Amino acid sequence: MGEKMSEIINIENVTKKYGDFIAVDKLNLNIKKGSFIGLLGPNGAGKTTLISILIGLLKPSDGKVFIMGQEMSRNNVFLKKQIGIVPQHINLDKDLTVKENLILAAKLFRIKGKEREIQIEKLLDYMDLKKVENRISRNLSGGMKRKLMIAKALIHDPEILFLDEPTVGVDLNARRKIWDTLKVMKNMGKTIILTTHYIEEAEHLCEKIALMDKGRIFYNDTSENLKSSLGKYTVEYFDEHKITKYKYFKNIEDAKIFSSSIEENFILREVSLEDVFYNFTNRKVT
Ligand SMILES: Nc1ncnc2c1ncn2[C@@H]1O[C@H](COP(=O)(O)OP(=O)(O)OP(=O)(O)O)[C@@H](O)[C@H]1O
Ligand SMILES: [Mg+2]
Repeated sequence: MGEKMSEIINIENVTKKYGDFIAVDKLNLNIKKGSFIGLLGPNGAGKTTLISILIGLLKPSDGKVFIMGQEMSRNNVFLKKQIGIVPQHINLDKDLTVKENLILAAKLFRIKGKEREIQIEKLLDYMDLKKVENRISRNLSGGMKRKLMIAKALIHDPEILFLDEPTVGVDLNARRKIWDTLKVMKNMGKTIILTTHYIEEAEHLCEKIALMDKGRIFYNDTSENLKSSLGKYTVEYFDEHKITKYKYFKNIEDAKIFSSSIEENFILREVSLEDVFYNFTNRKVT
């Protein structure tokens, strides 16, 4: 019961079908309040579909999503106020300025007057967008667009943040800024769900990483546990067809013995989360 209390999101047996195609397959996941979850999976795994269901944009074909104990649906106005959304694709009004985009976002949540002004100034300042506040958003760089999308998502100070590949095409500095913002949110006790194809992003930010493929979550664990499930050391080498192969070992002695049997060049290194992901997405499933 105490366990249940600390859970802010309960995904119960959620399925989403597009015709005969199953994009999300009887998925169950409980997310604790204040946690930072990374959703990792190959293209088409169902990440965006799942997020769309969680934010009430898509109705599941079966199953239910509860947020703060209430069932999520398109019409749940209370829950819509609790969540901030950074979608995979740019959701800015291209013809409006940076500041006008934020004003519009504030209006949707009925944030008015002085409060709106203060909140917008705070976000412009924090996301380094003050100097471009009057620029038409179609003319922003990719990194600025992504930062503005984050500012938009934070306008109503939501309790839960959903970010679907928030740093795609963003340079190192803007990415670090976005990471810092998310760390600050985490420290404020917000719950964060992030999808990404940048493994180092998930590793850097997320306490738990859920590996998703074919509409299901196969593993949900800390980066450390995911890595140690594979081993501690990786030997990377060319096979006879010049294709890179990876072999994983629990201890360095075995890794060295194996390496010494390889005629081609090899690399012996520690297991990375990328190894886990590669192994996961290339495993043979029947
Ligand atoms: N409206 C739709 N109609 C039919 N199929 C769809 C629809 N939306 C998504 N799909 C399919 O569902 C699967 C999951 O798509 P989804 O966008 O959720 O994947 P994803 O994990 O977010 O992928 P990516 O990493 O490329 O963003 C894909 O095979 C996709 O083609
Ligand atoms: Mg997606």
